[in-house]
Amino acid sequence: MHIFLTGAAGIIGSYTAKYLLLKGHSITAVDIHPLPEDLKLPAGSIFVQADCTDFQALEKALLQVPCDGVIHLGAIPNPRTGSDDRITHNVNVTASYNVLRTAADQGIKRIVQASSINATGVLYTHESRRKFEELPLTEKSPLTPEDPYSIICEIQADSICRLYDDVRISSLRFHHTCDAKYAVERSRHEDLWSWTSLEAAARACLLGVEANESSFSRGHEAFYILHDNLIFGKASKEIGEGFYDAELSSGMDPDTVTAKELVQLYYPGTKLKEDWWSEGNERRSLFDNSKAKRMLGWYHEK
Ligand SMILES: NC(=O)c1ccc[n+]([C@@H]2O[C@H](COP(=O)([O-])OP(=O)(O)OC[C@H]3O[C@@H](n4cnc5c(N)ncnc54)[C@H](O)[C@@H]3O)[C@@H](O)[C@H]2O)c1
Repeated sequence: MHIFLTGAAGIIGSYTAKYLLLKGHSITAVDIHPLPEDLKLPAGSIFVQADCTDFQALEKALLQVPCDGVIHLGAIPNPRTGSDDRITHNVNVTASYNVLRTAADQGIKRIVQASSINATGVLYTHESRRKFEELPLTEKSPLTPEDPYSIICEIQADSICRLYDDVRISSLRFHHTCDAKYAVERSRHEDLWSWTSLEAAARACLLGVEANESSFSRGHEAFYILHDNLIFGKASKEIGEGFYDAELSSGMDPDTVTAKELVQLYYPGTKLKEDWWSEGNERRSLFDNSKAKRMLGWYHEK
């Protein structure tokens, strides 16, 4: 396949570019910035420096080589790093619409876009309002985000699929996406102690563009793409950051504390789906990732 990949200079994008090339695909790599030096494109793949908020430049890039699928990862990932979250909104919402709409207009039937666990309302929702009716979260859980873009990009995908009924879009809700060695130290209660490996994210992107008609019950689907188990323990003891103190002072052992115990400590009153832990894994994730397994054939490596 030839795959149009935006955000190819970024953390997930550059890993995904290498993954796609390794799997024998060719790419049109797009980014507002140059590609990192360690990402070399072989013959048949090209780089186009373009801004996805400029739909004419984007369309020109898309038309350079006929594409079988699109993976859109070009965005400002953290709404707090910019000086003004209106900029994050304007870039991410506009870029997503431009990419989805332009690809669908050009007859591309398989599109993947990065979404985030924050579509549900997790890390970027204020502590006082971060409440969950029921855990684990599924893609059907209520959506109460306060960040400036994630759920809007998913709603745009719904609308594109109403316009083009043969287009299939996967919005991949990544958790904190990183190399395994950083996963534990970044684990925190604000986003329910999880993570996504770069390999798992890249593989989900490819499965999204490879998805066949029977994978999807409707045009647009959101998927949680994250690890099966809580990431909490060992290294976290040495970090010494405030959010670990509560577990330690409450007498809990970070290496053995269960998902239910953490919920009772941090989110008291939250209803728990008891059968989620019935298979005996007491540290099973507080996000249900089974939809991606069922519909895309995706899994997170151990
Ligand atoms: N990394 C994570 O932990 C994480 C978690 C959840 C969701 N996501 C989502 O995944 C996507 C990729 O995230 P990342 O961590 O790789 O971010 P990143 O900042 O490393 O990469 C994003 C890339 O997009 C490019 N870009 C930004 N605006 C652009 C524009 N207008 N036109 C073209 N290119 C543009 C940037 O130059 C950058 O190379 C984002 O949508 C992000 O919100 C990331």
